[in-house]
Amino acid sequence: MSVDLSISDIRKVYKQKSLSEKDVKANPLEQFHAWWDEAMGAHIDEVNAMTLATCTTDGRPSARIVLLKGIDKEGFVFFTNYTSRKGTEIEHNPRVALLFFWKELERQVRIEGNIEKIDEADSDTYFHSRPVESRIGAWVSPQSSTIPGRDFLEERRKETELRFKDSDIVRPPFWGGYIVHPLYIEFWQGRPGRLHDRILYTKKDNNWAINRLAP
Ligand SMILES: Cc1cc2nc3c(=O)[nH]c(=O)nc-3n(C[C@H](O)[C@H](O)[C@H](O)COP(=O)(O)O)c2cc1C
Repeated sequence: MSVDLSISDIRKVYKQKSLSEKDVKANPLEQFHAWWDEAMGAHIDEVNAMTLATCTTDGRPSARIVLLKGIDKEGFVFFTNYTSRKGTEIEHNPRVALLFFWKELERQVRIEGNIEKIDEADSDTYFHSRPVESRIGAWVSPQSSTIPGRDFLEERRKETELRFKDSDIVRPPFWGGYIVHPLYIEFWQGRPGRLHDRILYTKKDNNWAINRLAP
């Protein structure tokens, strides 16, 4: 194998913070909130961008970025097209993973759990909070389908703008929110010498067990 030294020389020493099982909250969603507040305080660009991994029934994984739009005691909410590739994979296999990487704080958060659609009324509320062009965009894009070219989108945009010229841009039935109910949440804090801190919460019978993992 030829090794590109300019890549292999990229290295970073993580030394900002530590994480101890003695200091974390008993509930991982509260712990997530604590880290979220710090991430907001650190003015991380696109702090709510997270990788969503889904999987086909025959075990082929796929991953992409989506934006976190809400957190409550039940889990993590994002919005998308229900007929997209991710939507189809979720339909067949509702087990997913989420990943945050907040490099400014030398942290990652790994989440695994079950996903379901949120209530239609909640999707409606969020949809109506979006800018007009995003609402039009949701109607225009048959997300993840092959399209003949950019013109296809521009033509559909014009058609959709005309269609809703004098009326409210309602939420498309194929677009809405999902919530990920976590069963596994791991908080990773980079440490020197690659001896990072990893605190794992696993859910069993509605209780959260807390363990430390080797880095
Ligand atoms: C920063 C960023 C934020 C994104 N946010 C979303 C989002 O909230 N919802 C969404 O459907 N796609 C979002 N996307 C696009 C997805 O990564 C992806 O291209 C799209 O959802 C289609 O994925 P799929 O074919 O696997 O379904 C975002 C992409 C980036 C880079």
